[in-house]
Amino acid sequence: MARSKKEDVEGRFNSPVSITAADSSISLLKLMSILIIFVVGVVVGLASSSHIDRYFTFQSDQFNLNHPYVDTRQFCFNTPKIVVNCAREDCLSMDSFIKPHNLSHRMKDDELFWRASLVPQKEEFPFKRVSRVAFMFMTRGPLPMLPLWERFFKGQDVEKYSIYVHTLPGFELNVTNTSVFYGRQIPSQHVEWGSVLLVDAEKRLLANALLDFSNERFVLLSESCIPIYNFPTVYNYLIGSLHSFVESYDDPSRYGRGRYSRRMRPDIRLSDWRKGSQWFELHRNLAIKIVSDTKYYTLFRKYCKPSCYPDEHYIPTYLHMFYGPLSANRTVTYVDWSVLSPHPASYSASNITESFVQSLRNNRTLCSYNSQEIPICYLFARKFDASALEPLLNITSEVMGF
Ligand SMILES: *[C@@H]1O[C@H](CO)[C@@H](O)[C@H](O)[C@H]1NC(C)=O
Ligand SMILES: *[C@@H]1O[C@H](CO)[C@@H](O)[C@H](O)[C@H]1NC(C)=O
Ligand SMILES: *[C@@H]1O[C@H](CO)[C@@H](O)[C@H](O)[C@H]1NC(C)=O
Ligand SMILES: *[C@@H]1O[C@H](CO)[C@@H](O)[C@H](O)[C@H]1NC(C)=O
Ligand SMILES: *[C@@H]1O[C@H](CO)[C@@H](O)[C@H](O)[C@H]1NC(C)=O
Ligand SMILES: *[C@@H]1O[C@H](CO)[C@@H](O)[C@H](O)[C@H]1NC(C)=O
Ligand SMILES: *[C@@H]1O[C@H](CO)[C@@H](O)[C@H](O)[C@H]1NC(C)=O
Repeated sequence: MARSKKEDVEGRFNSPVSITAADSSISLLKLMSILIIFVVGVVVGLASSSHIDRYFTFQSDQFNLNHPYVDTRQFCFNTPKIVVNCAREDCLSMDSFIKPHNLSHRMKDDELFWRASLVPQKEEFPFKRVSRVAFMFMTRGPLPMLPLWERFFKGQDVEKYSIYVHTLPGFELNVTNTSVFYGRQIPSQHVEWGSVLLVDAEKRLLANALLDFSNERFVLLSESCIPIYNFPTVYNYLIGSLHSFVESYDDPSRYGRGRYSRRMRPDIRLSDWRKGSQWFELHRNLAIKIVSDTKYYTLFRKYCKPSCYPDEHYIPTYLHMFYGPLSANRTVTYVDWSVLSPHPASYSASNITESFVQSLRNNRTLCSYNSQEIPICYLFARKFDASALEPLLNITSEVMGF
């Protein structure tokens, strides 16, 4: 007699006594296979756990915290076997998350830019956040104006600034461990002036500086830049500004629109195209946008080729297209282009006088700042060669206030 499926299922649960001979032999087979699987499982489990035990013992012996030759912090950042060591070192501490202790890392650019693009959704910070200005130096080699900058930072609140230096790879800044520049070189790569590699270096500086959640304003400087006001003035000017200082204008000549490539259409139109000095100052929000952009950066990398100069067009154009109202459209770094030459005027020892530096600070012109007209237009100036250092150091206290 054929039983319906439902009865069959119910029968199994309700009346164990009705199990047939065939049923019971199947159950026996099942029981045996379950038993075998169980035994094999136990054996494998025991074997691997004893292996892990040995592995862990070995690891913790080798990476003993008290071992004099092992810098455990290094393992936290650099080796793939981080789990064991991090449990001891607490690599997930807030401390190193909100501000890396050591600027060296092994992230590739795409990894770094991704990390730097992360934005907290929570508005309050679970720590005391003092807004910092990140001073980002892009240099080929030494910083001849270093003693001037040292004096500029001397005695200032270290919570209010941070320093980042991008050099050519292999170059090491020779500074003592008491210098504010000590340990501030970021992992750098090759740069060719005038190529997109320069934009890459700018983004690399921004991204490294973004890893410190307290950095609020980001200013790009070169080895030939000097500060022309003291630190408190520079700090308050930048932190208090509602706008970022990125020069941006439409230059109809061949040095402006002439560098536009129609292959950038339709994403970038000629009317979007802007030009401006590379020496920018950015608010954190815009810095994050710059390191996060792939689409427009890629168009510049592809089509802004020699005699286009991506560093003079990419950021001004990108900001103009999407964040125009956040930009002051002027730069805070003075440079003199009045000389008829492909390079701006450069100042050496003989040019440095009190009245010259005064004229940089306040040249009877007014600039718009938070919708007001104020006499301070520039905070930094370029280009100064190494010989200008001595005479500048001579007049800092009388003229520049530091
Ligand atoms: C670093 O600077 C010190 C003095 O400032 C000098 O004695 C030393 O030779 C320099 N080292 C290098 C590698 O340039
Ligand atoms: C700085 O270097 C000196 C010797 O060059 C050393 O004695 C001192 O401990 C170092 N200071 C720090 C904070 O590393
Ligand atoms: C940062 O870490 C690197 C490698 O781990 C080390 O060589 C360097 O001395 C460290 N720098 C500072 C300033 O501690
Ligand atoms: C800067 O230019 C943008 C257009 O790109 C404009 O929207 C903005 O108002 C200008 N900023 C100031 C401060 O004038
Ligand atoms: C700097 O001084 C030299 C010599 O006095 C002069 O020829 C040159 O024009 C000056 N440069 C600038 C940019 O003023
Ligand atoms: C200051 O203004 C005068 C006249 O407006 C100009 O000739 C001079 O180049 C300016 N100097 C600087 C350093 O901007
Ligand atoms: C620095 O100033 C002193 C006097 O104030 C002067 O004697 C000296 O020549 C100046 N040095 C330079 C390099 O200008």
